[in-house]
Amino acid sequence: MNIQKAAIIGCGFVGASSAFSLMQRGLFSELVLLDANQKKAEGEAMDLSHGRPFAHPMKIYAGTYDDIGDCALIIITAGANQKPGETRLDLVHKNVAIFKSIIPEITKRNFEGILMIVANPVDILTYAALKISGYPKERVFGSGTVLDTARFRYLLSEHLNVASRSVHAYIIGEHGDSELAVWSGANVSGIHINDFCELRGHFSHDEAMERIYKNVRDSAYEIIERKGATYYGVAMAVARIAESIVRDEHSVLSVTSLMEGEYGLNDLCISVPTIVSQKGAEQVLEIPLSEKEQAELKKSAEELHKVLESLDL
Ligand SMILES: NC(=O)c1ccc[n+]([C@@H]2O[C@H](COP(=O)([O-])OP(=O)(O)OC[C@H]3O[C@@H](n4cnc5c(N)ncnc54)[C@H](O)[C@@H]3O)[C@@H](O)[C@H]2O)c1
Repeated sequence: MNIQKAAIIGCGFVGASSAFSLMQRGLFSELVLLDANQKKAEGEAMDLSHGRPFAHPMKIYAGTYDDIGDCALIIITAGANQKPGETRLDLVHKNVAIFKSIIPEITKRNFEGILMIVANPVDILTYAALKISGYPKERVFGSGTVLDTARFRYLLSEHLNVASRSVHAYIIGEHGDSELAVWSGANVSGIHINDFCELRGHFSHDEAMERIYKNVRDSAYEIIERKGATYYGVAMAVARIAESIVRDEHSVLSVTSLMEGEYGLNDLCISVPTIVSQKGAEQVLEIPLSEKEQAELKKSAEELHKVLESLDL
């Protein structure tokens, strides 16, 4: 396995932006792009390669499945995206069918690295990739609510006029309509969020919490309505997760991975804070949740279970 080598399958908005984002970070020396539309992959590889004198040295080329067996990381961004008014769960049958064709091509090549799923509905597709591949659970996980968590921290930082890096708060659950904000543990540099709000002159907690949560949850719809797709934010999230893998950081990120009893949940992939290292989704963390949050997480899991039950995996 070549730790310096990664591949992206699906070179649409999200795949191409993720390639761009990875290039800026200089995490890999070789990046293979694959797409059902080979010309699209070739065009993206050419365009990105022309920026090489301005970025970190990285060989980027359009390849085939034969080029990706030795990758340390394969990122799957192939699949239909949401159209205005569509939910992420509406994409499920189209994208599970695509995964049933992609994953066996990877397993045939004795791939020993990590599979990062980004296509939606990401929780369902991560579970599908895990089942189809038969890989150990640490090696198959999805970008989950890493983007939603970033949106949450950004909106809180704007509300409080404090750096988003100093805001510690998570969105967990489905990457979709049933996700939830963990308000009980949200803090800025150790100061509970409500206390910090008051320090900054905000006292209407319920109104602000409702508004900020809805804004996070509905971000994708708002962006899709305006520009047709979302891709820069997720591309930066992809690069951040890749960084934690390649540098063996053990950063805590809200990726989606298989639950085996954590939070009382089983046999589904859902996002919760998780240690991400060179092993992949190394350890799921059970963070303290209020009773209301526990109930919301359970409900979110039930939504995902309903979808999984309708699939032949
Ligand atoms: N997880 C997240 O936070 C997040 C955020 C935004 C978008 N997404 C998801 O990412 C996916 C891609 O979105 P997009 O906007 O890039 O869509 P897009 O339509 O621009 O690109 C999809 C690409 O996948 C390719 N593709 C389709 N079937 C393929 C196959 N079998 N093998 C290889 N390539 C194949 C298509 O040719 C196309 O280039 C969608 O499912 C979208 O919902 C996820």
